[in-house]
Amino acid sequence: MAVDLLLGLQWGDEGKGKIVDVLTANYDIIARFQGGPNAGHTLEFDGIKHVLRTIPSGIFHKKSINVIGNGVVIDPVVFVQELEGLDQFNIDYKSKLIISRKAHIILPTHRLLDAASEASKGKAKIGSTLKGIGPTYMDKTGRNGIRIGDLELDNWQEKYRNLANKHEAMISFYNVDVQYNLQEMEAEFFAAVKKLKQLQFIDSEEYLNQALKDGKTILAEGAQGSLLDIDFGTYPFVTSSNTTASGACTGLGVAPNKINEVYGIFKAYTTRVGSGPFPTELFNETGAEMAKIGREFGAVTGRPRRCGWLDLVALKYACQVNGVTQLMMMKGDVLSGFDKLNVCTAYNYKGETITHLPYNIEPENITPIYTSLPCWSADLTKMTNASEFPKELNDYIDFLEKELEIPIKIVSVGPDRTQTIHR
Ligand code: GDP
Ligand code: IMO
Ligand code: MG
Repeated sequence: MAVDLLLGLQWGDEGKGKIVDVLTANYDIIARFQGGPNAGHTLEFDGIKHVLRTIPSGIFHKKSINVIGNGVVIDPVVFVQELEGLDQFNIDYKSKLIISRKAHIILPTHRLLDAASEASKGKAKIGSTLKGIGPTYMDKTGRNGIRIGDLELDNWQEKYRNLANKHEAMISFYNVDVQYNLQEMEAEFFAAVKKLKQLQFIDSEEYLNQALKDGKTILAEGAQGSLLDIDFGTYPFVTSSNTTASGACTGLGVAPNKINEVYGIFKAYTTRVGSGPFPTELFNETGAEMAKIGREFGAVTGRPRRCGWLDLVALKYACQVNGVTQLMMMKGDVLSGFDKLNVCTAYNYKGETITHLPYNIEPENITPIYTSLPCWSADLTKMTNASEFPKELNDYIDFLEKELEIPIKIVSVGPDRTQTIHR
């Protein structure tokens, strides 16, 4: 049996949580492989909206096991808040949520370091969610991190103290105004660690490979998006993990030859939250309409998301890096009634027409070249079958499939689980 991947192809918030929830019925195991509580994955069903941060989006299904892989970074404080959210719905997470011993822990001082680093950058800030993601991955690659498995050892608090002391020295080095009360933060942290320890810690690479041998099916749930990948994204305005397909191999310990389908998920337009280049960004009424109708506010920070037209140059790049085999188009319903739709098919880069993503996509170098298509006017949100799609929507889908040379297998027409159309 094989592992399928579901990856965001843009700058995050494509609707990964919704689709993982929809697809969970087909899988035995759902596994997160990178990122941490910078993610906010929204699921809607039975009139209730849930936002998950670190916990895989399969958690609401009775049968599936949910694994937090070694590539994830976990903040015990946020994690326990998530568990408390699940308690309200009587979700039995103790039996179906398991955590890799090799996952790294976000300490309170990692969050402070994130704030200090951003403050020191001034206008050049990344626009981080300030959840401590960057500093935690820095300690991981610097070989100083504390892992979930360390919590089972007697001396972990000693290790914690040494690292937290070092972090405090680093915070003062930044010489910026970051107010904090570490004692209070630590009290909250240690209380959360105690609750976290009630869950099952496992050697997840062993678990997952054995599951594959036993014929189980696994869906790996990406966080963030390909353009936020630490290697392939719009560096330095990226997150600190590999959000692309290869991240699933290192973040779960599954070999590349175990990967089967790669589902690539994208919005029918583009959004971005935080700083960094965004060639097709709209600063006009059309962009404001997308934000309003699409309710484009960050699920984690509540910040408004920047909106713009679909960028096929960037999307093709993401499909290539990930080896996408099937596409899913989200939020087409948001565009209903627009005068026309623009799709960026090339860039004018320093006077030359190019169709690949260059090293530097800063606005001063790039002007998007658009193809215009007619828009649909019908309300898509009540549709249940692709046969009901208006001609303009079918033409839009055909155009994208031709350009990307990959089939669009799911079209999402609203936030609810049921507003999902298979083609
Ligand atoms: P994720 O981080 O990729 O899981 O995406 P988010 O949950 O951060 O953002 C996606 C937002 O769009 C959420 O508020 C979803 O409820 C919503 N959403 C998902 N699919 C659709 C859709 O097809 N139409 C509309 N209107 N909203 C959608
Ligand atoms: P999901 O999984 C959208 C963005 C931040 C910032 C940059 C770095 O919900 O799609 P970080 O907190 O990692 O230091 O932030 O990445 N970012 C996201 N944008 N969706 C996300 O996750 C994001 N996670 C991080 O806004 O620009
Ligand atoms: Mg999100």
